[in-house]
Amino acid sequence: MRLVIVSNRLPVRLVEKDGRIAVEPSAGGLATGLEAYLSALPAESPFDEKPLWVGWPGRPLTDRTGLDIFQAQGRAFDIHPVHIPEDEMNAFYHGFCNAVLWPLFHYFPTYVSYKDSSWQAYEKVNTRFLTALEPLVREDDVIWVHDYQLMLLPRLLRQAHPLAAIGFFLHIPFPSHELFRTLPRTCRQALLHGVLGSDLVGFHTYDYTRHFISSVSSILGLSNTMGRLAVEDRPVVADTFPMGIDVAKYADAAASKPARALADNLRRSLAGADIILSMDRLDYSKGILNRLAAFELFLKRHPERLEKVVLMLVVVPSRTEVKRYQEMKKRIDELVGRINGKYATMAWTPILYRFSCFPLGELAALYAASDVALVTPLRDGMNLIAKEYVAAKNGGTGVLILSETAGAAAEMGETLMVNPRDIREMAEAIETALTMDRDAQIRINQTLFTRLTRFDVRHWAGDFLDSLFGVRDERRRLESR
Ligand code: G6P
Repeated sequence: MRLVIVSNRLPVRLVEKDGRIAVEPSAGGLATGLEAYLSALPAESPFDEKPLWVGWPGRPLTDRTGLDIFQAQGRAFDIHPVHIPEDEMNAFYHGFCNAVLWPLFHYFPTYVSYKDSSWQAYEKVNTRFLTALEPLVREDDVIWVHDYQLMLLPRLLRQAHPLAAIGFFLHIPFPSHELFRTLPRTCRQALLHGVLGSDLVGFHTYDYTRHFISSVSSILGLSNTMGRLAVEDRPVVADTFPMGIDVAKYADAAASKPARALADNLRRSLAGADIILSMDRLDYSKGILNRLAAFELFLKRHPERLEKVVLMLVVVPSRTEVKRYQEMKKRIDELVGRINGKYATMAWTPILYRFSCFPLGELAALYAASDVALVTPLRDGMNLIAKEYVAAKNGGTGVLILSETAGAAAEMGETLMVNPRDIREMAEAIETALTMDRDAQIRINQTLFTRLTRFDVRHWAGDFLDSLFGVRDERRRLESR
């Protein structure tokens, strides 16, 4: 049996650097989480062949950037890049995925800009993925489709391969039915029908699963029993699978000698100031502006903390060609400038700001060095940074301030939980975190670490795939009757 992963974004992307094409890691939870799972498939995994990952390589494929650049990488899985012409990709990715599904599913309905031409591009690109898969797929493959960019693909695959085991996982929130129904009728029906081509549909939290089921019931009129549906006489199950991380990867990286040396250097260079970490992809859903406003209010209300605390603000470039993201970046730059301009002294800058990607070693050093992590998205499907921070702390000190509207909140109730829209509450949470008793920090981090270890990325994928096999086998039994 072979596992075939299909996602819009591959774990690596092609970039042009100094006139040459290079391969770089992709940002975002889907790529990092799944890569961790595929790179070390557990011994008990039923897959006896190298997995295959099919996806878009980040730019159109030309002669120079054919298959070889991916095959030369020596990974635990094969990569098959899907060629999508630039204009089609623009209409699909920018026009529909980033201008309709992303804002709507993250509760920013006023950011939605729907165009029929973009919807048509979405249909076209989903079909393009099917065409790319056709020569690759074998009868006993298990096909696992990921995320909101490919919601039509499971149904297309089901029509072409009625017997295949097909799973779908959504990495972002599934919104309340009241929001989902604002999509044009044909589009909302097609998206639901598309996903229901799978045997199993997975979500990060119970709420997302519930929202999906109520949309299916009110829009398609399909009833369910505890998430079990009958779709054209096929059983389909919708269920909750909170994604975990590779805990040892972050714990070991943070404990490594180079990371500890980097962390010590950083602490020394900041003259012992408390370090608050903020780390995200550039995105309006991440609540970076609210977080900065909360930090500003915190400085205003706690003058005794001036020169004694530093906010390390790391923003990882993402979707930088999209206007809304460019505007967001500009507003972050301005706000950082304003806060630093107001509070900095000759010896101290309150916000240290980096707009770049970080390799694992440096990331782990930042996790290790920081006393507090501010993870306060306005909405987030899961948020793996929250989990990575706790893993890197490995039961030691460090306080996570977490947004109640991140999927991770459902599993990390022991942290300092905040409403990311309540600036005052967040400012006070920073003070609470900085004064939290060391023993209490350790107690909380140990509890969370134990839970993260138990429900890690292998558990997540194993649980999803076991359930998928269960539904597939049930379908086969029904078909053979
Ligand atoms: C989130 C989504 C992923 C996406 C990633 C990066 O994590 O769930 O599907 O790949 O963001 O966004 P991008 O648009 O660069 O693929």
